Formats: sequence, C-alpha cells, structure tokens
Amino acid sequence: MQINIVKPFMPAITEVVEDFARCLESGLVTNNSPHVRLFEEKLQAFFGCALRPSLHCNGQLALFHLIQAWKQKLGCGPHDSFEVLVPSFTFSGTINALVTNNLRPVFCDVDEGLVLDLAKLSVDSPEVRMILPVGAYGNLVDLERLGTLAKAHDLVVILDNAPAFGSRFKGRHPHAYGFSEMISFHATKVFNSMEGGANIVNDAEVAEHLLRLRDFGQYEKARGDVDMPGLNSKMTEICALVGLRNLEKVDFILRSRARNAARYLQFFGDLEQRGWLRQMKVNAEVSCPYLYFPVILEEDATDFVAHMQSRGVAVRRYYTANHDLKFYRGKYRRQNLGFTEAIKDRIVALPLHTVMSDEEINHLMGAVEAYYDERR
Ligand SMILES: Cc1ncc(COP(=O)(O)O)c(C=O)c1O
Repeated sequence: MQINIVKPFMPAITEVVEDFARCLESGLVTNNSPHVRLFEEKLQAFFGCALRPSLHCNGQLALFHLIQAWKQKLGCGPHDSFEVLVPSFTFSGTINALVTNNLRPVFCDVDEGLVLDLAKLSVDSPEVRMILPVGAYGNLVDLERLGTLAKAHDLVVILDNAPAFGSRFKGRHPHAYGFSEMISFHATKVFNSMEGGANIVNDAEVAEHLLRLRDFGQYEKARGDVDMPGLNSKMTEICALVGLRNLEKVDFILRSRARNAARYLQFFGDLEQRGWLRQMKVNAEVSCPYLYFPVILEEDATDFVAHMQSRGVAVRRYYTANHDLKFYRGKYRRQNLGFTEAIKDRIVALPLHTVMSDEEINHLMGAVEAYYDERR
C-alpha cells in the first residue's frame, strides 16, 4: 500500500466542466471575473467577516501583498524597513514574504504547540513594528493574549494562517479577534482551489490597498497609473470554480479531518505515554483541522523517515528552522531559539488526508509500530 504525503480533495470534472466551458466561451477567465467575485462572496459568508476577503493566485503572493498593504497603511514606502517578530519554525514562504518586502525578521521560538511562544518572546527594540505568528499544522497561538501583547506595544498583527483554514479559537474564526490573516488554498491544504490564497482583513484601507496591489498597484485604469509597485496576484476563474465546488463540501472536509485526527490522537497519545515521542500540544481553546499530523521523535528523524518510506508511507520533514536556511543563516537577529533547536531535526509530518480509509490509517499505524518494534 502507498500512502502519499497529501491527497488533494478535488471536485469531479463533471462539477466544473459546464461553468468552465462558459468561461472559455466568454473569455472572462481572470481580472476580477465572475466566479472569483462569487467565491469571495461565499467565503465572506463562510467566515462571517465584515469585509469581503480578497482572493489571490496563491498564498505566497497573498501574504506578500498583505504585508505590502500594511506597510502602505503605516505610511512606509517599499524601501522602508522595520523588524518583524516571526517564528523561525515555519515554511520559508513566511520569511521570504517579509524579506522581499524589505522587512527584517527577528527569529523567535515556538512552544510545544509548534506556534510562536508568546510567553518567551520580547518586543526588545523600537524597530519592531509587526508580529507575524504562523498557524502551524492548523494550531493557533492564544489570540487573546496576542491581542493584549500587540496593543501594549502598538504592533501590527498579520497571521500567516496558510495551514489553518477552518481553525477557530474559542469557536471564532481568527479574523474575529481583529487581526489580518492569510489562508492558502494550495492543493496540499485543508481546503483548496488548486492554487490560491485569501486575505481577510478588518481594516477598510488595507482591503482597498489589497485590491490595487494584486493588480500591479494600479489605482486607476484609464492610464494604468500606480501608487505602489504591486505585482499581479489575481486568481483565475478555473481556480475559483474548483474553490467554489470544494466550499460546498467544507462541512464534510472539516468533519472528516476531525474524525481522522481523533484516531491519530488516540494512537499517538498511547505512544507518547510510553515516552517514545511527543505530539503537538494544541491549545485547549483551538479547534485544529490538522494539516498533516506532526510528531516530535526522541531521536533524529532520518531513520524514521526511511523506515516509513520503505513501508510505502510518505513522511515529510516539515516545517524547518528558517534561521538555519542557506540564505538566512547569520543574516538576521534571533531571540532564544532553545525549543526550535531541540526539535528541528526530530520533527516529522505524517500524512492525514481528508479522505482516508480505515485500511490506510491502520497501515500507517502498523508502520509506526513496526519502527518501534525494530528498535526495542
Ligand atoms: C506557513 C506558510 N506560509 C505560506 C505558504 C505559501 O502558500 P502557497 O503555497 O499557497 O503559496 C505556505 C505554503 O505551504 C505555508 O505553509
């Protein structure tokens, strides 16, 4: 049996073919086209947010433009710079979006929830003007505590919730705490539109900037004049169509993931009690859709990865410590990264698909058991 690291959840071709044929006939395939607008409306209803989310061609450019929009709101030009508190333990896309906006990451630690350790970080310089927590594997930081911290230090908060579609804190979507948020709709994510990303913001000015920035920064179309050097991050119709069809099944997606996650939690909880590994400690107030199932091994993950692969189960070494990556090494400030250093070579992400048969889950668990049997 082969279990891939992800199994994208897709509509059948019959569910999109007629609408897509009409798009092609009309030539309305991009540029704020009808299904993109409809998708934005449906997402607004799903998230219950006051302002319509903006859709982008992928999460990376959505985040790039969200940071750029906030710089604009703060009165900063593209060449202005300040520092941003961000976890080192994330996907490189988080840090790349800051640095390509000419901002300077300050690498901070994560806690046992694998999200920014708010108790540990310090706002240690007037250069720090933003904080950018990551919703790793669907977990969230304590959003109330984050709000208090941001207010005390007058920090802009952007949540890189690329992996956290559907995550809630105390039953509420993260935007309800007043923060800006980016969610990725990449095929590998909890909810997908093949490629795509959405920004949800509460600030009307930032929302306005986003609509321009995703269209090259044009504030008027007659001459195509720009007031900021935006890029092109517009979503296409075909992605919106796939997203719309998947959104109709969002309850099924989240329910099914919760059911699968419950089985993992029981199995890995047992191994944790034996002291063989540790699970991500999800904040008790967070409903987490588990994008992958991360476990922290007691030993370096190399043998585990090879063992699982030999049994047909793909395992990913994910996320990574960004302060150690070739481009970032030694370039930016860091705070105490004790926990990140301790786990960076021991963490693995196991596949947890939306649609997964009992046989597949049993096979994965059997492969893990065999790993520990061989070591004893
Ligand atoms: C934390 C994080 N930020 C940003 C991104 C970029 O999102 P996308 O793949 O949609 O461009 C990802 C994608 O994996 C991610 O995990």
